[in-house]
Amino acid sequence: MAVQVAIDHELVERMIHDLARYGAWGETGVVRKVYTPEWAGAQQQVMRWAEEAGLHTWQDAVGNVWARLQGREDGPSIVTGSHIDSQAPGGRFDGALGVIAGLVALRTLREQFGTPRRTLELVSFCEEESSRFPATNFWGSRAVTGLIGPEEPETLRDYDGVTIADAMRAVGLDPGRIPQAARDDIEVFIELHVEQGPILEQQGLPIAVVTGFPGIRHYLVEVRGRADHAGAMPMDLRQDPMLAAAEMISAVIARAREIGRPAVTTVGRVLVQPNFPAIIPEKVSFTIDVRHPDSARLADLCAAHEQTLRTIASRHGRATSWQITTSHPPCSSDPELVRLLVEAAAEQGIPATTMPSGAVHDAQRMAHIARVAMVFVRSVGGRSHTPAEFTTTDDAVAGIRVLAAGLRRLAY
Ligand code: GLV
Ligand code: MN
Ligand code: MN
Repeated sequence: MAVQVAIDHELVERMIHDLARYGAWGETGVVRKVYTPEWAGAQQQVMRWAEEAGLHTWQDAVGNVWARLQGREDGPSIVTGSHIDSQAPGGRFDGALGVIAGLVALRTLREQFGTPRRTLELVSFCEEESSRFPATNFWGSRAVTGLIGPEEPETLRDYDGVTIADAMRAVGLDPGRIPQAARDDIEVFIELHVEQGPILEQQGLPIAVVTGFPGIRHYLVEVRGRADHAGAMPMDLRQDPMLAAAEMISAVIARAREIGRPAVTTVGRVLVQPNFPAIIPEKVSFTIDVRHPDSARLADLCAAHEQTLRTIASRHGRATSWQITTSHPPCSSDPELVRLLVEAAAEQGIPATTMPSGAVHDAQRMAHIARVAMVFVRSVGGRSHTPAEFTTTDDAVAGIRVLAAGLRRLAY
């Protein structure tokens, strides 16, 4: 007979509400950037909840929080969790729901089924969003997978110029110890996350099991010109970088629109220097976020965007350069885990589908050392990376039941 996992609805709702107090932004938003006091408060809260649930907790060298439910047998761990940092501003659910889900799942499994055969762990990753440091690239899961370069702590700077090493020291962490956060004893990583798009809502379903993840590339483009007087310098004598930048931005977005789903291109950050109404800009910088689930198509799209930048720069005679600040290949979920989670949903009587992820996730990094899969929970209106992000507690509970049932199949 199917074993029903009973999740405490009220506990889930309270945890979502209470965690959102750390870095609360407006009525429903959160700004919780890595290594800030509100981030530290949230990680401590997660540790307290895990200890109350009877789990053994610790914070690793990079600031990830872990909680363990020791199994009877030796062997690699089965891990669940997500990230505690947020966009700026973001919502209450991106990352946070996966941390809460893992906590509630482990707590419920322990209460309902006792000591597992295999060791189960929760991880609350310190950083995923790159919302403070533009090039952290999954800092928390990169530390766990041993992929942080030795030069990075002293060279990565936040938008205010603070190095990540100094930011770590400010919350009592020693950047020299980052390599100690690496793990080689994790067999499975299953992350629960809000979908962040509209597909589940359109299909009228609460849950999906994720089949794969897009490849992503971030560019930082600089178009240079010369600052002059906005009234006195005639149009034909200006070296204004704005016209070229505006054409570049419009061209890369238009190309992704023409190609259509699942290709996407976003220009989300534009910096004008010196950024005053009566001064012709000296420099316009902007980011391009390019994603596609097929690596060859991603490479083609990026090559086309780069050619566009060159063509427009040369037509306007504007010195233009770019650097790639993030680059990850697409990745697939483990098919066996996908099957197991689909079966777990059926066992719990929860309607579920399978779908690829549009967002990138820590699970992609964890795929370097473990078999991975994800559970998606419906997002209201498909909204995310905004304080308008929302997921009902009913749907969150449905997702946690699927997660817990999946972990039970693996660990008991
Ligand atoms: C993760 O937050 C992403 O940008 O997909
Ligand atoms: Mn996320
Ligand atoms: Mn996010």
